[in-house]
Formats: sequence, structure tokens, C-alpha cells
Amino acid sequence: MIAHLRLGVNIDHVATIRNARGGCHPDPVRAAKVAIEAGADGVTAHLREDRRHIRDEDIARLKAQIAKPLNLEMAATTEMVAIALKAMPHAVCLVPERRAERTTEGGLDAVGRRVSLAPMMDQLNAAGIRVSLFIAADPAQIKTAAELRAPVIEIHTGAWCEALAHNDKTAVAAEWKRIAEGATLAKSLGLEVHAGHGLDYESAETIAALPEIVELNIGHFLIGEATFVGLTETVKRMRAAMDRGRAKVAK
Ligand code: PXP
Repeated sequence: MIAHLRLGVNIDHVATIRNARGGCHPDPVRAAKVAIEAGADGVTAHLREDRRHIRDEDIARLKAQIAKPLNLEMAATTEMVAIALKAMPHAVCLVPERRAERTTEGGLDAVGRRVSLAPMMDQLNAAGIRVSLFIAADPAQIKTAAELRAPVIEIHTGAWCEALAHNDKTAVAAEWKRIAEGATLAKSLGLEVHAGHGLDYESAETIAALPEIVELNIGHFLIGEATFVGLTETVKRMRAAMDRGRAKVAK
């Protein structure tokens, strides 16, 4: 039986637009509710250290008001862990964060940060928050995630999506192999496998055919497309694309 593929909608960039003018419009919590109504299985929000989009009060309002699981993306720092322990989201995804970057450009270096990650993982695990590590599909990173007792990893799909955007067939093939093999390895080690970054309708449909992956987290493309056709329609089209991809595995 192939697992259902969940869609987590990342609403960060609704907050980006709000913050461009100050005030409270458009409201990311309203976007979260619309996305859920349209078929999202959960909502993802990244509380960055510089609070450039989502803010602390958004997290509190999301937790209080949405009817589906909240996945809080955050840097692996003691400040952020304390915030998570207070907010108690359903899940936390630990991501690397550099202030100068435009978005989360690479995976977390679980191998290099193993010693500092271990106590944070223990605290979050003990609080009953499902922790995931946002890592490249690299065997050493995946094995370390399992050793750190992360229940979940999220595979960074950015390099694959970049290669697709540039129509670089060699890189596409290499990145796809890395993701597919990484997903298989992670599942064999008992990890739940998610994926995200840079996905659009087409790439989401393609990656939906990997049966080990049970959740996709998608933001920038959905919020951008929503400008043209509305968030409800965009989420529905994404859901349909993922279902088409998933149906290929079942055959
Ligand atoms: N997953 C993680 C862990 C992320 O950091 C991001 C970007 O915030 C996403 C998924 C979504 O990426 P995108 O906005 O490119 O769809």
C-alpha cells in the first residue's frame, strides 16, 4: 500500500508581502486557513532569526487558529528551540540559516553539527514535537540524522529544481539519482521522508512518484501562482499534480 502524499503549504511569502507595507494585510493566518480549506494537509512557516517574513505572533496565531498540523521551520539554535518548546507546534523542521541568504540555500550539515544538534533533538523529541532535519540527500547526512534519532528528514530539492529550471539534463539526472537513492536509504533506516524547496506543479508531480516520500512542503511557487489564479485554485492544482504523480507508483 503506497502512503498518502501530504501537502504542506508554506505561507512565509504571504507575510513577505504583508511586511513590504507594514500593517496586517495580507494575513498569513488567513492564507493558512484558505490553503487548508483547499486541501492542504498542513501548514509550514519559517520563523527566521531576522523575522523577515513570519513573526512570533504569527506562530502563536497559527497554532491557535488552524485546524491542521503546524510545521515550524527554524534554525537549530537554543533561542529557537526555546520558542518551539513554548509554541508547541506539531512539528519542527531544523534548517540551516544564513542571514545574507535569500532563501534556505542548502541542507543542514547534520554531520558537522552533530554535537550541537544532539541536545536540541533530545529536548524536542522529549516534548513530543516531531523533529525533521532539512538535509541534502547525501548518505552521510542521512545516516547521521538516523543516529541522532530524528524521526523525519526533509530532502532539499533545490539543486534538482535549479537543474530543471536551467534544463541541465546531466545535473537533473545526477540530482534525481541522489534524491531517489537518498529516499530509499532514509526509509531503510526507519526515517520518514519529506521533500521540499523550489517545487512547482511539474516537479511535484515527478517527485510524487517516489513512494518513500510522504510529504512535500511547498511555498514560493504556490504563493506566486496564487497572484494569478488565487490560492484555493493553486492548492487544488498542486494537489491534483501530486495525485497524478502518485498514481504512477500505484501502477
Ligand atoms: N522546506 C523547507 C525546509 C524550506 O526551508 C523551504 C523554504 O522555506 C521550503 C520547504 C519551501 O520552499 P519553496 O518556498 O521554494 O517552495
